[in-house]
Amino acid sequence: MSNIFFRRFCLIFQFIFLIILPVGCGVESSPPPTPTLSALAIKGKQVFSAECARCHAVSDDTVIVGPSLAGIADRAGERVEGVTAEGYLLQSIVAPNRYVVDGYSELMPADLGKKLTGEDVDAVVAYLLTLQDGE
Ligand code: HEC
Repeated sequence: MSNIFFRRFCLIFQFIFLIILPVGCGVESSPPPTPTLSALAIKGKQVFSAECARCHAVSDDTVIVGPSLAGIADRAGERVEGVTAEGYLLQSIVAPNRYVVDGYSELMPADLGKKLTGEDVDAVVAYLLTLQDGE
């Protein structure tokens, strides 16, 4: 092999090792997208679609029958004094008429707490707690 060919050969190899491989490896080792929902919240999202979405949107300012639940995780803890966000959301489902949001009437089904299993309720609360402002 003449010298010039050998040098080209080396250049091609250098190219592969220095440019292509690091780029390729970089793509593979970049961190996987952070999972946004826990397994419980994913189940809760399904319960929400089946039982709640016909009355509640999760996009800003969209009223179906009930208020939009966009950002509810941030508001829930301030609705009733002394009641945590989780406690308020739980209560909204099992005893919806205990606290009625201003400007709405008591249209939320009162039997949801009986219809849903305890696990469904926990799951949907976990899902609602992921609905923070800006999402
Ligand atoms: C038939 C319609 C309807 C269905 C179905 C329904 N809701 Fe509601 N919901 C309402 C209405 C109307 C209100 C506002 C009046 C009130 O506070 O009860 C409300 C209020 C709420 C609130 C309080 C919101 C706030 O801003 O404080 C939460 C939380 C809530 N619903 C969650 C749920 C969940 C979770 C489900 C499903 C398991 C569900 N709702 C199913 C109609 C509904």
